Amino acid sequence: MARITSLGHACFTFSNESHTLLFDPWLSGNPEAVCSADEVHADAILVTHGHSDHLGDAIAVAKRLSCPIIAAYELCMYCARHGCEVEPMHIGGARQFDFGMVKLTPALHGSAVITDTLIEYTGPAVGFIVTLDEITLYFAGDTGLFGDMKLIGELYEPQVAILPIGDNFTMGPRDAVVAAEMIRPRIVIPSHYSAFEIIQQDPESFARSIETEGIACRILRPGEATEITAADLR
Ligand code: NI
Ligand code: MN
Repeated sequence: MARITSLGHACFTFSNESHTLLFDPWLSGNPEAVCSADEVHADAILVTHGHSDHLGDAIAVAKRLSCPIIAAYELCMYCARHGCEVEPMHIGGARQFDFGMVKLTPALHGSAVITDTLIEYTGPAVGFIVTLDEITLYFAGDTGLFGDMKLIGELYEPQVAILPIGDNFTMGPRDAVVAAEMIRPRIVIPSHYSAFEIIQQDPESFARSIETEGIACRILRPGEATEITAADLR
């Protein structure tokens, strides 16, 4: 029904037969990237925040493909200033697109574009709830653990959650297990845990903890994909 593919670090695609949604497309300079910014395809690009390992190549890819960037208003204005088509949204807001619904969630994190001489604020960091066909994905983005993840689980019942486990900049494995318990998806896909030395984690150990809670864990190495089928939705 739908497919989730890891392109390395926090970059994933969520796709069905007609649409490909690209999340946090950091490819240039990403030691885990499995394709280049010139090769990747998308119908829309969803960016959680302005940090370079998330905004990444979004502007270049959006311009090459003439596809929109969906993000928080401030980050969208930054991208628009750089020539992109944008679909500004904000936390708590949902919108129906031709492919499905997108809603922005809170994320406990910063958001800025940082250069040698300037730190440019790009609004709050966010997560996304996205529906494609019958499947609801919660893409948490870079975030610490927060109690309203329970509300996200209760209100939107995502079957799949992509959660950071790298620690230091985001939740570590222990907090991500608590997050999974609150969200109660069928499937958790860990992210943001291997591209830098300081965020190295063992996803197998995380998977065992998640599975103790009766939640499946699918570890996607960069380049690997998983199908979300009707059997996963039962
Ligand atoms: Ni970040
Ligand atoms: Mn990050």
